[in-house]
Amino acid sequence: MAKINRRQFLVLSAAGAGSAIFASYTQRRASYSQGSSNSPLDLSKLHHSSNGLLELDLEASESPVNLGGKRAYLLTYNGHIPAPRLEAKPGDKVRIHFTNNLSQPTNLHYHGLHIPPTGKADNVFLRINPGEKFTYEFDLAKNQAEGTFWYHPHLHGLVAEQLFGGLAGLFIVRGELDEIPEIKAAKEEFLVLQDFALDNYGRPMDSGHMSLMMGREGDLIAVNGQINPSFSLPANGLLRLRILNGSTSRFYRLSLENHPFYQIATDGNSLNEPIEVSELLLTPGQRADVLVKGDRQPGQYRLLNLPYDRGGMGMMGGGMMCGRGMMGGGMMCDRGMMDRNDRNATIALATVNYESSVKSIDLPNKITSIPALPEPMQVRHFELNHGMTPAVGMAFLINGEPYSGELINTQVRLDTVEDWEITNTGVMDHPFHVHVNSFQVISRNGRSESLPAWRDTVLVRRGETVRIRIRFQDFTGKTVYHCHILDHEDLGMMGIMKIR
Ligand code: C2O
Ligand code: CU
Ligand code: CU
Repeated sequence: MAKINRRQFLVLSAAGAGSAIFASYTQRRASYSQGSSNSPLDLSKLHHSSNGLLELDLEASESPVNLGGKRAYLLTYNGHIPAPRLEAKPGDKVRIHFTNNLSQPTNLHYHGLHIPPTGKADNVFLRINPGEKFTYEFDLAKNQAEGTFWYHPHLHGLVAEQLFGGLAGLFIVRGELDEIPEIKAAKEEFLVLQDFALDNYGRPMDSGHMSLMMGREGDLIAVNGQINPSFSLPANGLLRLRILNGSTSRFYRLSLENHPFYQIATDGNSLNEPIEVSELLLTPGQRADVLVKGDRQPGQYRLLNLPYDRGGMGMMGGGMMCGRGMMGGGMMCDRGMMDRNDRNATIALATVNYESSVKSIDLPNKITSIPALPEPMQVRHFELNHGMTPAVGMAFLINGEPYSGELINTQVRLDTVEDWEITNTGVMDHPFHVHVNSFQVISRNGRSESLPAWRDTVLVRRGETVRIRIRFQDFTGKTVYHCHILDHEDLGMMGIMKIR
């Protein structure tokens, strides 16, 4: 094994099970070559509900995949990067027969869905060991928002590593929104944005080569598992892009050459009406639904990822967490890492090609009407910070506490409305995510937010205070809130909330 510095050692021991991934790849490859096929696993890329039931087998395993023309050994659900897209409607029952064939424990989280955080539903405290099976079962509420949600592993300590290995897929809830004539007439495409860093054998780079403090980023950016794929836009028509940032830490600042975006949803929730934006910043965990009008000179346009500076430790001018000194001599990252994290590069993520003309479609006017939440009964304060603690090294904290796994940090009452004021006193941006209930952003640094929108993840930039308003509805039990830079979450920036 390569040399392990103190920081990596701490991270590995924090992960508990450790990272025995290397060994298991070798095993898996052996079993593939023996042609092991004992389960009648349905390997299709789309599973939708019928007669009110979405039921499928889902297997997490290390699998050989083709990633941008290269052989890679990634972590997959049912062998696909990204994972199969699931589609259901409000009121449907969901039953997922899950098998963990990874070499590590794992579980499933249904990001953004309004379902119970307990039992066989969105229970992030479950631990499904290697070789074990578990059947997830829950009902989507009749009032479940229609939109773009997703699923990914959520076992504290291993979330970043498993997501970076590729484990992420869309969970689409369809309904009336999709029946709005203009939206229905639009051509629909799904864009799952993931980044990867592969070693010479095509395996995910191990954490020793990643900047965990900054949050690991890879140099290979895939859209639906492909490098720079093409999408077609009907001339005069509309293209509906449903975009997920399924990356562990990378932010995307998207812009389509010569075309504004007309945003119709934030995370899994529709906006009142389309909002014209020239760029779209998506932090890890966030989604956006946008319409693009095919009203320009027919041709080819690039979907660009523009530079974004999400902060850093200020050690290298540019903000990289590289170099000696932080952790008493351990190398934080190597030269290759710096190149991978070059934030000044503009990259083409995908290409949009005009295709033959259709009868012209207008933008929809009214989409929904977002109610204002009542005044809060309580205001709570959360401070996001990172500090050095003698025992743990670099810790990522909320209100001075790292995630403990047991301690309940926040107790709230069902059917109440609260304002949460989240202050980032650190040197990096942190996207703050709350499970189970969506929220509205009320203000940023005291300035009230003008766009009414529901979100489940909000960016709190360094130095900023963001106030969100949240109503705890329908479900009691323990759940979590955390930074969605998943290395930060794994390093402690998560709290437990109990809804009573
Ligand atoms: Cu997408 Cu708690 O996570
Ligand atoms: Cu979530
Ligand atoms: Cu963070």
